[in-house]
Parts: sequence; C-alpha cells; structure tokens
Amino acid sequence: MSTTYTLDTATSRAHPLPEPVRRLTVPAIAARKANGVTAEPIVMLTAYSARMAQLLDPHCDMLLVGDSLGQVIYGLDSTVKVTIEMMIAHGAAVVRGSYRAVVVVDLPFGTYEASPEQAFATAARVLRETGAAAVKMEGGEVLSPTVAFLVQRGIPVVGHVGLTPQAVNALGGYGARGRSEAEAAKILGDARAIAAAGAFALVVEGVVEPLARTITQAVSCPVIGIGASAVCDGQVLVIDDMLGMFERVPRFVRRFDDFSGRIADAARRYAAAVRDRSFPADAEVYQPKP
Ligand code: KIV
Repeated sequence: MSTTYTLDTATSRAHPLPEPVRRLTVPAIAARKANGVTAEPIVMLTAYSARMAQLLDPHCDMLLVGDSLGQVIYGLDSTVKVTIEMMIAHGAAVVRGSYRAVVVVDLPFGTYEASPEQAFATAARVLRETGAAAVKMEGGEVLSPTVAFLVQRGIPVVGHVGLTPQAVNALGGYGARGRSEAEAAKILGDARAIAAAGAFALVVEGVVEPLARTITQAVSCPVIGIGASAVCDGQVLVIDDMLGMFERVPRFVRRFDDFSGRIADAARRYAAAVRDRSFPADAEVYQPKP
C-alpha cells in the first residue's frame, strides 16, 4: 500500500488525503428525506477493516460495521455469537479508515435487549471506543422504548426491521418476510414504532416489495433496503456479497465483481511462480549497496 498518511488535526486521525474532508452528519442523512421524498438515494455498504473503509468511503454516505462480520470475517454460522469486543475492534478500524461517511456500528445480540439501561451502556461504550456516529439495533415495537431512551440521551440510532438475522433461532431461517397479511401488518407496525421512537434511519431487510413501499411511504426517516427492492430511500449490501466473494448468491444480491475468482487466480499464479522459482525476480531482491 503506497498511501502517504498525514495527521488530520481536525479529527486526530491518520489521513491519506491532502485536504481534510468534512464528515457527513446524522442530521444530514436524516434530511435527505424531505416531505416523504428522497431525491438522492442513500448509499450504504458494510465495511469491517480500515483499508476497505478507505476504498469505500469516497463512494458511500454511510458505512455499516455490521454484525454480519461474524459470518463474513470469522466464519461463524450466524450473528448470534458475535461479541461486543469484535464490533468495537472492527468499528474503530473503519472509523480510522474513513473520512466522509457516517459510520454506524451494529450492537450485537444479547448486549441491548434486556433493558434501555443495558442498551445505553453498550451503545455509549461503542461510540466512545470506536468514534462511530451511531449504532444499529434489530427489533420492532418491543424495542421502541429503548430506541427512544438512547435518542433522548444523544445516541443516534438506526433501526432494523423485517428479516432480523439475530432472531434466526426464533424466525427459523432467513426467508423473505411479509408474505402474509398478518406478518406484513406486524412489520409495518414495527417500522412505524421504531421511526416514531426517533431512529434517524431504518434498515428494512428481506421483505416483499409492496411492504417495502408501504413502509417507505409510512415513515418520515430514510428507509435503507437490503432485499427490499428499489422503492426504498437507499440501499445497503454486505461488501463481500457485492464484490462476489461468495459462491452462494441470495436473490437480492448483485455481484458487481468476481473477487473470489480473481483471488483464486492470483493465488494460483503466485503458487506457480514460487514453485518454478520465477518469484522473486532480480528486481524484487535486496542487494548489498555498492
Ligand atoms: O450486519 C449487517 O451487515 C447488516 C446488514 C445486512 C444490513 O445488518
């Protein structure tokens, strides 16, 4: 990596740009939806490392340090085993690597559901130890008093309704939600409650398009969809899905590249070059100074 770092004294962060960049703010993101209309869709991707954050930052309004890192980075079978220490380590790395985007960190399963006080303590620790601007929590109506508790105490919150992966054991899988009238009504109620509690944005995951449209029209905060069609006010994808790192491609994912194929090819060429001793070549070898 050839980037030259300077210290941005405005943010006290290592900064690879000649000029410090002003970071977007939570109110600026919320204001992108005015009178029910979002003229410029909100662009969000997940990021888990400083270097990936540097690469995504110029193109994104928000970077999400998602607890999907449990599966993507750590090879866990769900997000249920993700710890607060993992989220803080990766959250701090993404903040260090980004300059413009609003960084949001997921609160992991079991660290916020018990009470508003538990959620406040966890969220405050996350903001303090990562430098992120906001937290995200999965949950519907039942969680709305907790969202209000945090927002009233200065912690910006992104809600997350519909398919909520931390509840996989209760939901029984990752299938699309809102196919029955009753389920759609429940999810709409959840969205309304979380928005009314003060969430500045709402992730809506894995719901049928008519429900996504109804929710987007029903709430005043921006709705950021994943597997929720183009009717939302913005979109988020897991970065490794978007880059084509996995062979399994859920219906809602578009692979914008084939990184798994390109990495395998680079590794194959490296292995061949080591084995036939063409790597390292003369130009890649230190020699004593004359
Ligand atoms: O954990 C995550 O990456 C998420 C997104 C899929 C929205 O919650």
